[in-house]
Amino acid sequence: MVTLFENPLRVGLRQERTPEPLILVIFGASGDLTQRKLIPSIYQLKLERRLPPELTIVGVARRDWSDDYFREHLRQGVEEFGGGIQAEPLWQEFAQGLFYCSGNMDDPAAYTKLKTLLAELDEKRHTRGNRVFYLAVSPNFFVEAIQQLGAAGLLSDPQKHRLVIEKPFGRDLTSAQALNEVVQSVCKEEQVYRIDHYLGKETVQNLMVFRFANAIFEPLWNRQYVDHVQITVAETVGVEDRAGYYETAGALRDMVQNHILQLLALTAMEPPNALDADSLRNEKVKVLQATRLADLNNLDACAVRGQYRAGWIKGKAVVGYREEPRVSLTSTTPTYAALKLVIDNWRWQGVPFYLRTGKRLAKKVTEISIQFREVPLLIFQSAARQTNPNILTMRIQPNEGIALRFEAKMPGSDLRTRTVEMDFSYGSSFGMATADAYARLLLDCMLGDQTLFTRADEVEAAWRVVMPLLTAWDTPTDPHTISTYEAGTWGPDAAEALINADGRRWRRL
Ligand code: BG6
Repeated sequence: MVTLFENPLRVGLRQERTPEPLILVIFGASGDLTQRKLIPSIYQLKLERRLPPELTIVGVARRDWSDDYFREHLRQGVEEFGGGIQAEPLWQEFAQGLFYCSGNMDDPAAYTKLKTLLAELDEKRHTRGNRVFYLAVSPNFFVEAIQQLGAAGLLSDPQKHRLVIEKPFGRDLTSAQALNEVVQSVCKEEQVYRIDHYLGKETVQNLMVFRFANAIFEPLWNRQYVDHVQITVAETVGVEDRAGYYETAGALRDMVQNHILQLLALTAMEPPNALDADSLRNEKVKVLQATRLADLNNLDACAVRGQYRAGWIKGKAVVGYREEPRVSLTSTTPTYAALKLVIDNWRWQGVPFYLRTGKRLAKKVTEISIQFREVPLLIFQSAARQTNPNILTMRIQPNEGIALRFEAKMPGSDLRTRTVEMDFSYGSSFGMATADAYARLLLDCMLGDQTLFTRADEVEAAWRVVMPLLTAWDTPTDPHTISTYEAGTWGPDAAEALINADGRRWRRL
């Protein structure tokens, strides 16, 4: 028997290799992402003995910091946002490999200086010329940094040089294509790692294992048995201190084009031939290319946007979006979006995919639910109250797990049915917390495994899906016409109407 998951040559979702010695260069090293996410995740890998002792990290940013200051700053990050130092000798060893190089990203001299430092560190720390360049900077600097890296010859070796690009990758199809062109002018696609941190989540990877390591679900996974699919990514947080970015993005760019369409692609794609990066990404691209808004001639019938008003979250009063710091009082940026998509292929013809996401909703929850068709003929009609169709739910976060809802006979001499659930929970079955998404992605990148990173054509295919809406929604609107919802609720009424119009309703979560 051939399985996708056993052949060690077909890398992909396998584990337990250690990366070769390398230097990780982080641009934007004085920023939040580095201190809160990247370094705590890398240090966690260090604690798990997943990293080579030679691993060296060079932080690049404008501020004039010393190596020691940088080390102390990162130590605070690990203590505050990571799992703590835990083993002082290991931290000391890790800290010895941290260096800081100040410089302006638009200054060629900064890259010359960096190049010299990297050559010295290669000698000193035996890192063999292997480098990963991580752009943890505002997207406004991506093009500049990539061009300068190229001009300095820092991406010239496809075997040894890699480039990691954070989201957002472009702000529409045209800018994503332009950015891809810049990337491709200085390096090869196999050197590029576009981050979508949802792909690093354990439960998102489990979507593939669930579908393709079990024989019983795949035969049902199609238009014959599935009535519709719902994908919900709900958050309780508001815009926080990110208005500068969010005002130019909104829910479609921030969540739908990337995270949610990735969830859709993994749910709907055909089985890949193998789990190597390209086989998997080919399937995702194919399904994204077949995905579109349900009615391109009537966008109001297949998409709803909304913005949160003041309300209550977990017993605390919160302000509305327009009252958040640095948000315009007349902003029409959507903090909520609900979409109805269809996939034009044999498997999914006629099966709607309803997506919804929003900030300041009632609960933080991400889940995918596959709602099956009703039984063709209900023979229990006289004895039972109405039965519910089967639903398979994949809980991506929190309370990670999978549940199958079905009907069962209630005990007793009457023939009465009730809906019950079979529930698998990660926590109780595996007894351990799921790994951090960034740790997983950083490790994969250091190992040279692109499986969980998005390819150029994939990012473009995802932009194509949302472009009709972006174009319509970016057109200035009267600020009074955007639907609003009270913080702490499930979004605007129009979102209910969107799905109710098809005789369906959103799941209560
Ligand atoms: C980020 C978005 O990509 O994902 C944020 O920019 C959002 O706005 C976050 O809050 C959600 O990630 P998670 O892992 O908390 O679901």
